[in-house]
Amino acid sequence: MHKSAPTVYIETYGCQMNVSDSELMYGRLEAEGYVSVDSPIGADVVLVNTCAIRDNAEQRVLGRLGELRRDLKAGAVLGVTGCMAQRLGPRLLETDTRVQLVVGPDGYRSLPSLIDGARHGERFSATDFDLEEHYEDFTARRFDGVKAWIPVQRGCDYRCTYCIVPTTRGPERSRKLADVVRETAEVAQRGITEVVLLGQTVNSYHDGSHDFADLLRAVGRVDGIRRVRYTSPHPNDFSDRVIAAMAETPTVCEHVHLPMQSGSTSMLKRMLRRYSREEYLDCVARLRAAMPGLGLTTDIIVGFPGETDEEFADTLSLCREVRFDDAFTFKFSPREGTPATRMPAEWTIPEAVVDARYTELLNTIRSISREKNLGRLGERMEVMVEKEARKGGELMQARSRDFKTVLVPGGPELIGRYLTVELTGTTGATFTGTPVQERAPLPMAS
Ligand code: 5AD
Ligand code: SF4
Repeated sequence: MHKSAPTVYIETYGCQMNVSDSELMYGRLEAEGYVSVDSPIGADVVLVNTCAIRDNAEQRVLGRLGELRRDLKAGAVLGVTGCMAQRLGPRLLETDTRVQLVVGPDGYRSLPSLIDGARHGERFSATDFDLEEHYEDFTARRFDGVKAWIPVQRGCDYRCTYCIVPTTRGPERSRKLADVVRETAEVAQRGITEVVLLGQTVNSYHDGSHDFADLLRAVGRVDGIRRVRYTSPHPNDFSDRVIAAMAETPTVCEHVHLPMQSGSTSMLKRMLRRYSREEYLDCVARLRAAMPGLGLTTDIIVGFPGETDEEFADTLSLCREVRFDDAFTFKFSPREGTPATRMPAEWTIPEAVVDARYTELLNTIRSISREKNLGRLGERMEVMVEKEARKGGELMQARSRDFKTVLVPGGPELIGRYLTVELTGTTGATFTGTPVQERAPLPMAS
């Protein structure tokens, strides 16, 4: 009897690195004869690719595993991959008896054989790091038709005291420049015009004598590529070379997501961020001097152990000084095994204080962002149409080079197209835009 191909569904949580890893896993499993499906119901293999950065990310996954346990078809293999898998390892097999596979970020090469074992009833945890592993021979199965995530570096060698990432993704290692360029050329050949280079501290990238500046220039001149972005850089790795490469490569977009975490030098010390308030400001000034009009976004943590009123005030004042276009704000979440959990118990910030600071920070960020955005109405800019807007109603979601979201009228036929729009309205956070006809240049008088 003809046996139909087994199906696989991967549900992804967390950052773009996880999205990219899921694309690699899908690609690998399709190469082994699996068929990708977009629902766990009825799938033969279900993988949950997880995040461990904050406790609420893990709680969501645990809740989801409970739901899946009810929804899965009998005999389906359930696996947990990614950072939470790496962090908990065999403990996950003990706490959730339905889970058969626990595979960390460096173990995806063995997925097909592990799944085979699981289909015969076995249970595994695979959480060894492999410092050579970049999955070079995997072909990512990309779901986004207009932009491609391209990992250029895995792991992290910083040791920020709040962060679980060095534990879950291991030491930093970079891909070869030639491999990144080859992958960029491949996606460009398939009609993708934007690439996003991924790494935990992406601008510390190095391949022999090549640094991130070389990588930006090399990727930026690949035929067919119109936009290059990257995330996330560390302020300390913005050498003059990297900034010059960014400014001088026309395809590299004028946007930097520059995690700040705190605006207080004493707090940054406790976080082991390795820069001061002044050094962060200096980095911003150098970036802006090289690229006037640069879009700037950031990450900020509130309620880190020992955060005083003055330290929090420094964070607010740094936000006002830099005037970020937007920020992701997080309440500190203690992660088992990180240095922050060994700080004196009396440094813990009461929940009510954290909540109040969080709200104040969010309001500050939003009002700056709104003010900046209102000031840009009437501006004309190039946007790339990415997808249908969530609101629907014949609106498409597009992005400017400096990372603004602009809703434009039209249908799915616009996806992937570049338009010049005039910004006609803003909610404070996102814009609406009207396409404008570029005026042809006037003929030269002879
Ligand atoms: N608690 C809260 N936020 C955190 N981040 C990293 N670790 C923690 C933690 N333990 C935030 C940082 C980082 C972003 C990806 O997540 O701001 O830049
Ligand atoms: Fe975590 Fe710091 Fe590494 Fe970023 S640089 S992943 S915050 S340890």
